[in-house]
Amino acid sequence: MCGIMGYAGHRQAAPILLEALKKLEYRGYDSAGMAVIDRGAIQVRKTRGRLQLLANMTADGRDMPGSMGIGHTRWATHGEPSDRNSHPHLSHNGHFAVVHNGIIENYRPLKEMLILKGYVFRSDTDSEVISNLIEFYDQGDLVKTLMTAAQHLEGSYALGVLSVDEPDVIAAIRKDSPLIVGRGEKENYIVSDIPAILNLTREVYLLEDGEVALLTPESIVFHNAYGDRFEKEPFHVDWDVSAAEKGGYEHFMMKEMMEQPAALRETIRPRIKDGRFILDDLKLDPDWIRHISMVYIVACGSAYHAGRLGKNLLESKLGIPVEVDIASEFRYRRPILKPDHLVIIISQSGETADSIAALREAKAHGVRTLAIVNVVGSTIAREADYTLYTWAGPEIAVATTKGYTSQIAALVLVTMYLAQETGKMSDEELGEAQEMLLRLPEVTEGVLSDHREVQRLASLFFNCKDIYFVGRGIDFSLSLEGSLKLKEISYIHSEAQAAGELKHGTISLIQPGTLVIALVTQKRLREKMQSNIQEVKARGAVVIAITLQGDEDIKHVVDHSLPIPYLSDELQPVIAILLLQLFAYYVAALNGNDVDKPRNLAKSVTVE
Ligand code: AGP
Repeated sequence: MCGIMGYAGHRQAAPILLEALKKLEYRGYDSAGMAVIDRGAIQVRKTRGRLQLLANMTADGRDMPGSMGIGHTRWATHGEPSDRNSHPHLSHNGHFAVVHNGIIENYRPLKEMLILKGYVFRSDTDSEVISNLIEFYDQGDLVKTLMTAAQHLEGSYALGVLSVDEPDVIAAIRKDSPLIVGRGEKENYIVSDIPAILNLTREVYLLEDGEVALLTPESIVFHNAYGDRFEKEPFHVDWDVSAAEKGGYEHFMMKEMMEQPAALRETIRPRIKDGRFILDDLKLDPDWIRHISMVYIVACGSAYHAGRLGKNLLESKLGIPVEVDIASEFRYRRPILKPDHLVIIISQSGETADSIAALREAKAHGVRTLAIVNVVGSTIAREADYTLYTWAGPEIAVATTKGYTSQIAALVLVTMYLAQETGKMSDEELGEAQEMLLRLPEVTEGVLSDHREVQRLASLFFNCKDIYFVGRGIDFSLSLEGSLKLKEISYIHSEAQAAGELKHGTISLIQPGTLVIALVTQKRLREKMQSNIQEVKARGAVVIAITLQGDEDIKHVVDHSLPIPYLSDELQPVIAILLLQLFAYYVAALNGNDVDKPRNLAKSVTVE
């Protein structure tokens, strides 16, 4: 996820771009840049690092004359954070400058085609392909050129484009990534989201997929997906600025929970093509894959909980033993590591000290390492032998949500890819797995669309002193994450128990009124779970169950049930955790806690 701003007016563009980009930094902050048109030529200034660096090197924009400009603050997906990978990207002949938010899934074949046509690339990004494709299809009319180029793009994009041949115009087009057009007094704007221009205007237009907007200082012209001009209705924004930074949500955590369908879509879709799992980013040698004798999955916190689900996946699909370790334990327990082992490190931030240390421990023993990371160019991403990125976009709230669910999706992708490359799964099984994965985002959208019952339950139980989560197998790993989500933001004591383990001790803590949240999403374990629920009910517990839609038996045994749709055993945790995240969120909010920045915690624990 990146931030885009464009200004078409009569004032100096660069300072205005910088001011807007500052409000877009939460969308990405590993590099930034601007392009302005000055006396018929495009001037580009860009740099790795925070936006303030760009401000410093341009004297807060004063060193970039020109009243037409585009700006960008980056969250890297393809191409590490660096000066040359920063946006804007100039086309080969320098006639076009482009800023891009999104992921171009077919950038490799397009880049190969353009190189064969003599185009020289200066970066490792997918975005630079767009600027050269625009040049390649240039037909002297920016709208037609842009539409022709866009027809060849697969994936998501929001684009701002400058052209030396049409210096009084900024062009914009989008597909799946947001782009807003704003109307000012003798100036107009494009922007990734509304908050960044609320100080400039409250009259905005939401660009739809395939539409093109042409902005001059005096006019905004819209073209539909067929190239025809049409009139769009503006709307007046009456939000207050602080709420708007979070996309209208009260907390980043809620915003990020609601972004999970998009994060899953961005993580999954580029890796499934023509009936196959495509993990080109990994470049794993199929022969070596076939000789993996054991896998370690190592991580902390929620990433560790995702890793536990990875164990179920890899063992069941590949038939090789998997050990899951907490990173701070792994690094000191002298693990038995051999050259035919694989160590998978999972980390949203890519900067967790214990996980970095575990990675280095594995590499010191000559073991190959695979990282599943959300932050491109982070330490773990750079030091691992192979890296698969979750493309969840920046996660600001300390309690991870979209980071965690994207990690599960990535683990499913890795598992299916390894199974595909080793012939451990039939084409039919692989095809079914692909279908389920591709349906997952829409299923999560459905679950996230109605919070009423979860909110009602949170209002009943937000004063609890202890809350227990129980489950079996995959649902036990899910219980661990549900319990962590709750305790880290609500400050209520919570623990997760393997349901079959309750009778070996913890059940002594169950007394009348104790709240127990039971996870019953695994069909083959539901009878066992029903017995465990009866056990705690017999001691007076109040039970909320996360069940499969239609499971009337469980519903009649518990006090409250939250039914979820069924996709596959492996993907149920991604669906069920949404309700546990929402429950934790509402309980914490009802307790008046700082949901985004809970006490004693940090977003990335970069110390031991
Ligand atoms: C989860 O909500 C917490 N923020 C924490 O447990 C986190 O998952 C853990 O610190 C690992 O962080 P990482 O994924 O960035 O390595």
